[in-house]
Amino acid sequence: MEIEVAKSYGFCFGVKRAIKIAEENPGSSTLGPLIHNNLEIERLKKDFDVSLATTLEDVKEGSATVIRTHGIPKNDLAKLKEKGGEVIDATCPFVTKPQQIVEQMSEEGYDIVIFGDVNHPEIKGVMSYASGPVFAVLSIEELQKLHLRERVALVAQTTRKIEEYNRVIAYLVPRHKEVRVFNTICNATFENQDAARDLAQRADIMIVIGGKQSSNTKQLHSICKSHCPDSYHIESKEELQKEWFAGKKLCGITAGASTPEWIIEEIIGKIREFKV
Ligand code: F3S
Repeated sequence: MEIEVAKSYGFCFGVKRAIKIAEENPGSSTLGPLIHNNLEIERLKKDFDVSLATTLEDVKEGSATVIRTHGIPKNDLAKLKEKGGEVIDATCPFVTKPQQIVEQMSEEGYDIVIFGDVNHPEIKGVMSYASGPVFAVLSIEELQKLHLRERVALVAQTTRKIEEYNRVIAYLVPRHKEVRVFNTICNATFENQDAARDLAQRADIMIVIGGKQSSNTKQLHSICKSHCPDSYHIESKEELQKEWFAGKKLCGITAGASTPEWIIEEIIGKIREFKV
């Protein structure tokens, strides 16, 4: 069986930047997981003593804290600063951008619609910057239930699919006097998605590597699955099953934006050991 890695995969600019910041601040803690990859978080703890503070209460007074790539809510940031320790911002600039847009548009009186998952940390953070009405939706059905005023500003979670965002835009534009649309979807996500789609169309099996909580890895998996039914989302080599590969000719590999190269290499190594 041949193994082919997607032309674009794995770590994006924002994640590389956040890991570098964490490595440059040994002994600090991160408020919430720095990135959505447990194995990399364990490595940062082991090699750089960067620990995880799950909640604000876990942050020790006066200790240095790194803000994760997805950002944190505005109130949490204020409380963190009150603790008196150094606050080191590793929020991805592509996440800071929708935070700023939401803050400004909200101040200007627009109702804010965010195309994204209300439970995702990035969206919780972005929503917190609104000073007026703000809604996060994932479908047209959810949009239909909202009572929006005439002026609406729209942003998207960085990892959403553009085709789905286009449907939200197409729904809102004819129904409102003014719709301000901001394309806040991240290019790194597009590049990995396009390359995964290209490979999944040719592969008999796709292995999509990334944290189970990682939204962009889940998106990659959904794209792969629509072209290659035998697509599996795994986080570590222990999840691989030899039977998956029986009779397959081409195994495609892709990985989410927070998946480190060493995990990808481990997984490819284990697939090769199967000798199928
Ligand atoms: Fe940032 Fe895009 Fe990565 S939003 S964290 S560069 S996927």
